[in-house]
Amino acid sequence: MAIFEVESGAPLMGEAVVHPAKNAVLPIIAASLLTKDTILVPEMPDLSDVRALCGLVQECGGVCQRQGAGMALSTPEPTLPEASHMMRWTRASVLIMGPLLARLGSARITMPGGCAIGQRPIDLHLKGMAALGAEIVTRQGFVELKGRLHGGVIYLDLPSVGATENIMMAAVLAEGVTRIENAAKEPEIADLAQCLNAMGAQVQGAGSGSIVIRGVRSLHGATHQPIPDRIEAGTFCCAVAVAGGNILVRGARPEHMRALLFKLQEAGMSISEFPGGLRVRGKAQWPMEIRTLSYPGFPTDLQAPMMIVACIAQGTSVFLETIFENRFMHIPELLRMGANIRVEDHVAVIEGGYPLQGASVSCPDLRSGAALILAGLAAEGVTRVEDPQGHIDRGYENFEHALTAMGAQVRRL
Ligand code: UD1
Repeated sequence: MAIFEVESGAPLMGEAVVHPAKNAVLPIIAASLLTKDTILVPEMPDLSDVRALCGLVQECGGVCQRQGAGMALSTPEPTLPEASHMMRWTRASVLIMGPLLARLGSARITMPGGCAIGQRPIDLHLKGMAALGAEIVTRQGFVELKGRLHGGVIYLDLPSVGATENIMMAAVLAEGVTRIENAAKEPEIADLAQCLNAMGAQVQGAGSGSIVIRGVRSLHGATHQPIPDRIEAGTFCCAVAVAGGNILVRGARPEHMRALLFKLQEAGMSISEFPGGLRVRGKAQWPMEIRTLSYPGFPTDLQAPMMIVACIAQGTSVFLETIFENRFMHIPELLRMGANIRVEDHVAVIEGGYPLQGASVSCPDLRSGAALILAGLAAEGVTRVEDPQGHIDRGYENFEHALTAMGAQVRRL
């Protein structure tokens, strides 16, 4: 159980340093199962999701060794995992399916866990594996896959990030050419392709809606530094919009954050870009319309932090969540803090400008947890954010330290 106590205070000043992206490093940890050689990640964030996936890779015969700030990953002889508790912990555990199938000719997973933000089925992952020639059986809570993989053409009904990554990782060692149509375009997909290509794979078009993978016989070791975390960087930007201030977000890649940055500017924030990051200044003033979409649309992972910005701005904001069906779980907690929000299905209407008051609130999922801490930065009195499942530590490294370094009053009890 993590508990954070937050108080409002002076505007945020100084800088925040962005870590490598959780959603980029997780598939790379899974990709290390594709070769017997070592994959070196020079800087690896210290997140509980990273530790959980490393635990699972180790159950598959892998070795994940911390080396200073980085990590060396290798799997001389992969095996099928027996235990399933790691898989229930993180949704990213599903990403071992493609690499194991490609390397061993078989894989076994349970239905993965993670944040309860929606049903999160894996039908598209399985559809992709079937198109590459895998036989799929469901037995005693496990999904078992086997087969010698060959190239295929896969159309994804939705541009699923995880399914695109899983199919890419399965196809790199398949015989022949694979094409993924309506692939996800998130920067983390292009980053994974860059890592796979450094390992000797032939992946083209990653980052676009059409990815072509030419299978190779084997992959080798590589060194790859994943991209900075656009969601962590975006959360820092939202923190400034909520508390007011002037912050350098060091390491942020503005080209990965366009949708958020435009919306913050519309809300009255000043943004300037530098080669090594961006500066965000001001405090949210005007309302906004947010529709979450696949990249390059507004990221669903920043919907909750941005809703706190909407609570601070004057006027009526409208949020439409189109990616996950259960991603408004922060709203009942915000109502307890005095926010004025109405929800109808996937639409939330926020009347901004109502003063927030400190309260004891509970963290329902990773991004909602971060959002509730941001709400505490603007609330009168003390806000106590209880996080019984440790969601915030899954995706933010030392979140409270990052905020206190900017002058915020946040304590982990
Ligand atoms: C990834 C991110 C997560 C982010 C999400 C959407 C990682 C580790 N996590 O999650 O932070 O919120 O992208 O940007 O990268 N779907 C299906 N069938 C499937 C797979 C997905 O219907 O087989 C649906 C999901 O229920 C959801 C939508 O597709 O409604 C998008 O999900 P997906 O892109 O797969 O998200 P994740 O890869 O799980």
